[in-house]
Amino acid sequence: MRLSRDRPLGLAPATAWDYRELARRRLPRQLFDYIDGGAYEETTMRSNVADLERLLLRQVVLKDVSVREQATEVLGQRMSMPVILAPVGLCGMFAKRAEAQAARAAAAAGIPFVESTVSICGIEEVAAASPAAPWFQLYVMRDRGYAEELMARASAVGSPVLVLTIDLAVVGARHRDTRNGIEGESSAMTRVRRGLDLISHPRWVRDVGIGGKPLTFGNLEKAVPDASTPDAFKEWVDAQFDPSVTWDDIAWVREHWDGRLVVKGVLDPQDARRAVDAGVDGIVVSNHGGRQLDAVPSTARALPDVVDAVAGEAEVLVDGGVRSGLDVVKMLALGARAVLLGRAWAWAVAAQGETGVRRMLDTVSADIDVALALTGNTSVGDLDRGALYAPGAGSVPASTA
Ligand SMILES: Cc1cc2nc3c(=O)[nH]c(=O)nc-3n(C[C@H](O)[C@H](O)[C@H](O)COP(=O)(O)O)c2cc1C
Repeated sequence: MRLSRDRPLGLAPATAWDYRELARRRLPRQLFDYIDGGAYEETTMRSNVADLERLLLRQVVLKDVSVREQATEVLGQRMSMPVILAPVGLCGMFAKRAEAQAARAAAAAGIPFVESTVSICGIEEVAAASPAAPWFQLYVMRDRGYAEELMARASAVGSPVLVLTIDLAVVGARHRDTRNGIEGESSAMTRVRRGLDLISHPRWVRDVGIGGKPLTFGNLEKAVPDASTPDAFKEWVDAQFDPSVTWDDIAWVREHWDGRLVVKGVLDPQDARRAVDAGVDGIVVSNHGGRQLDAVPSTARALPDVVDAVAGEAEVLVDGGVRSGLDVVKMLALGARAVLLGRAWAWAVAAQGETGVRRMLDTVSADIDVALALTGNTSVGDLDRGALYAPGAGSVPASTA
């Protein structure tokens, strides 16, 4: 059990779970649940974390690990560690202009920030706020002209990588959102309760409700002019998310995007091969943080088969349940080239803004360093499945022992 789930925090947050607890105290319930929750019974969301917890590292001692290297290259970009801030929609509702704050923290840490299509701050605002151009995440919409316009906007601010999210053909049910009245029908009483939830968090009201304006969707201003209610957003999602998209549409994306192209939301090895055949540069093994189809495998379980299927023909990234640098090392050992953090940074920005994200990333980097040293490795590039403990696998035959 994580300390912050059971006991009050001490003076300073030490882990992603501590930021979660701070975010829980600070945010209106509906927003905290929106970040924290998953689809249906949340089985997949929990197993993302649990399967990583169950994976064990292999401790190897008395090797010279005095010089250790976390810097790496992912999709043509140098980064200080193999960590990327995943696209998180509506983030500007968690803290004032939160996408801009997080992008600055990512740039300071030397890693990429991925701007979600459904962000509060538009791509231009995020690019202007940070010395490094953000990567851009795109949902394919029925209005292809609008999607083309978004790719042009991302390109104009110098985004080097387009992350095309492909696991949202339809939207999985998130029961917490329904209970909180931000999904489904909302009666007048639900709207009143939602309003009371917001105003009973005065710090949030000051920071976001007043200081964070305008609370519109910066990338979708023309498509969703009224972003003041969840209903308007939901109507847009229902009308625009396109379940008819196929692998053939990758060619259309390629026509409009000159940079690197990554598809996010692959779990199946055959899909991974299709992605390679469609000519993508990278694949993110992801189940959307357990927010789409429940009862699918955790990403830690799905990753090795995808890595084997891709056979080095594209870069394989992964997200889901990663809460620490030790988790990052485990995912690298399973074959990922880099790891995206979702909730970990959403909680940190909600709790302490840019400073929270910076501190959380410092901790992740420090964890990676220790895990490298104590698994007997000196570089993230050296990590392979041998860094994981497998009962019996490293045992010395009795005759030579
Ligand atoms: C609050 C929230 C909003 C998200 N919004 C998006 C989004 O707009 N686009 C997208 O591709 N993924 C989105 N995701 C999924 C993340 O990019 C990522 O796949 C997931 O959070 C990884 O799991 P983790 O949160 O356990 O780290 C969102 C996740 C959360 C928690």
